[in-house]
Amino acid sequence: MLNKKKGLLFLIVSLLFAFVLVGCADDTGGNADDSNDSNVDTTDEVESEDNDTSSGDINVGIVLPTRDEPRWVQDEQRFKDALADSEYTTEILFSQGSSANELQNVETLISRGIDVLIISPHDGDAAGAAAQAAANEGVTVIAYDRLITNTDAVDYYVTFDSFAVGAAQGNYLIEHANGTNIPLYLYAGAASDNNAFLFFEGAWSVLQPKIADGTFVVANSSEAEALADKPELTRDEMGRILGQVTTNWDPNEAINKAQTHLTAAGDDLKGEVLILAPNDGTSRSIADTFATDSDITSYVITGQDAEKASIQYIIDGKQSMTVFKDVRQLVKDAMGMAITLLDGATPDTTGSYDNGSKEVPAMQSEVIVVDQANVQSVLIDSGYYEASEFTGLD
Ligand code: BGC
Repeated sequence: MLNKKKGLLFLIVSLLFAFVLVGCADDTGGNADDSNDSNVDTTDEVESEDNDTSSGDINVGIVLPTRDEPRWVQDEQRFKDALADSEYTTEILFSQGSSANELQNVETLISRGIDVLIISPHDGDAAGAAAQAAANEGVTVIAYDRLITNTDAVDYYVTFDSFAVGAAQGNYLIEHANGTNIPLYLYAGAASDNNAFLFFEGAWSVLQPKIADGTFVVANSSEAEALADKPELTRDEMGRILGQVTTNWDPNEAINKAQTHLTAAGDDLKGEVLILAPNDGTSRSIADTFATDSDITSYVITGQDAEKASIQYIIDGKQSMTVFKDVRQLVKDAMGMAITLLDGATPDTTGSYDNGSKEVPAMQSEVIVVDQANVQSVLIDSGYYEASEFTGLD
């Protein structure tokens, strides 16, 4: 109470003083505005424009890969929610699927005085240059969700358990398959994203024994067929499979690939099929494409991210499952780490990831499988989404 009164008094005295100063400046022909244009910015700031030109110091810069996928727009919103009452200034910029934009974004944020950079790279290797630019200026770099690879310039990594994402997808297919010789269509993310390898590695760890024993028949990758007896694949081997079945995280490329595969597939690879789709955006496209093939009688298809559109697909029976990665937790971990660093302390970590150049200390969160059976309890009852955002929920 006392402090508030003192503060009010101080404010009134300051305003009077400023008023007198402005009066003096006007009298002498000086420019009062210049002297008032202080660079001390104590307000919360969450910008999301690509070309922000406002001035003032920013504590934490956040760079996300693209606004074109709902997954990352979701992250932006969760950052904004988490920062609403923060005393720290932050700015969020999107790289729009371009490593050149990404580097420019990081340079902009460096020029605005950031101490910590939270960055989810468009391309893990290429982002090494942006991380190095930040490190050169003493900025601490936190890789967010996607690892920055083959550089020493990344200090921390905040992530979900991506291997577990792929394993959950693979296990879901196994648990919902009947019989033997079931056609299995494999799809993967972009090879420039380290996560695409982790997801595939996790899925392969559970699918491979079923491929090897003939329960499943790979329908669309000769490379995967050739490696059917190998429980663990090298990065190079996975790269060869990804080369055949990548979607590049692009729903349109997923449609094109699915069409090509369905056109090439004989009757023995149609009927009841299984589809490993790496995320929700590509899952919806692939599901729509398979649904239009009259020789496909039913399909089980995976996803990831719990995007709203996919939750509706799951309710409608058009997508089988998704892997829910609670972005609120990831944002909390990343900002918690940033604030610890700003306070001059060392953040807690739970393990580490080898980025090809060093072991990056990491903080990892768990993931949850969602399908029709638990969509209400996991996503609605928990407050993640509103029931009114969907139709057909009972
Ligand atoms: C993320 C996924 C996302 C994908 C495409 C991955 O690195 O972990 O959540 O769906 O990129 O943007």
